[in-house]
Amino acid sequence: MLIGIPLETHSGETRVAATPETVKKLVSQGHQVTVQASAGSNACVPDSAYEQAGAKIGSAAEAFAADLVLKVVAPDETELALMKPGAVLIGMLNPFDSDCIARMAARGIMAFALEAAPRTSRAQSLDVLSSQANIAGYKAVMLAANHYPRFMPMLMTAAGTVKAARVLVLGAGVAGLQAIATAKRLGAVIEASDVRPAVKEQIESLGAKFVDVPFETDEERECAQGVGGYARPMPQSWMERQAKAVHERAKQADIVITTALIPGRKAPVLLQEATVAEMKPGSVIIDLAAAQGGNCPLTEADRVVVKHGVTIVGHTNLPAQVPADASALYARNLLDFLKLVIDKDGQFHLNLEDDIVAACLMCRDGEVVRKNG
Ligand code: NAI
Repeated sequence: MLIGIPLETHSGETRVAATPETVKKLVSQGHQVTVQASAGSNACVPDSAYEQAGAKIGSAAEAFAADLVLKVVAPDETELALMKPGAVLIGMLNPFDSDCIARMAARGIMAFALEAAPRTSRAQSLDVLSSQANIAGYKAVMLAANHYPRFMPMLMTAAGTVKAARVLVLGAGVAGLQAIATAKRLGAVIEASDVRPAVKEQIESLGAKFVDVPFETDEERECAQGVGGYARPMPQSWMERQAKAVHERAKQADIVITTALIPGRKAPVLLQEATVAEMKPGSVIIDLAAAQGGNCPLTEADRVVVKHGVTIVGHTNLPAQVPADASALYARNLLDFLKLVIDKDGQFHLNLEDDIVAACLMCRDGEVVRKNG
């Protein structure tokens, strides 16, 4: 099969969908791989490394004209027009972007959005949300340390003792847990909260304290169980009690990292303006939900702002700030997905009996088969 790896052109995107390691494997399986010139430059992969792995370096038109196109994010309209009807596209295509999926369907593309894969053990090796959220959680702590005007660890020096930073993590999924682990390594004192009670143990096993907001009704308890491992919007009553707990903890914190998301919806507001106004001067908020509206209403997407003396960081694509490793992990996720759709003769094979393949399929034969993620 002819496989194309285009250069990502979306603003701020630095990742690439294949690395020399994955290209080498694809070539050894008998595929021809065309990598668009400079596709890996931002991820520290020169064209010569792809050539050594067996790829041909080509133009955008050549990469998009392949039978199978591997992308990081969805192609724009100009790029889509370069794809041939009937071609297969795999990437992080945003299953909730109905307009984009409709455009791909209209072009006759068979598109797979890897974010839609179920969160099961079998899907773990191709779980792009996990591989990229893990990086975001790490980078969030690095950014926090950069913007924070003090040390993270407790230090005893001849000039006196410096206190450890207090970090509050709101939302302890993949990104939040990695943020806890990274902040711990830097010596911070950490508290964390999540709506799903199952994470209490995980938070504590990483050495952080769980901020408990006990459930008071069956409705709260039932909502908190979530669906498919994901959180659901919580009843107002619980959100109000959580806001009070967060208000008290945030006032004591030096750094707040928020990661709370609910798939397909605007991110829940966890850090009110009144809370930010009472945080210590020089405190830092890293809002990982900035692309979904933010967990703090003061967050501005893709900007670093100072409000009430608090630095609020709203980068929407943190994995793109660690492009080499983010690409390496993402490219391996893609390779693992390909095992499910390419048969042993190297031909594309659509097996809708496979729950992962069926969940990721967005459109085929001109029809949208998945509408709202
Ligand atoms: P996510 O990115 O969708 O959300 C981040 C976190 O925010 C979640 O932990 C969620 O519970 C939390 N959250 C939502 N609303 C909140 C609120 N109002 N207050 C506090 N926290 C709130 O989640 P992510 O990281 O993608 O993980 C989703 C699930 O998938 C988790 O249960 C995780 O353990 C599971 N998972 C399973 C895998 C597997 O078995 N293959 C692999 C990775 C994750």
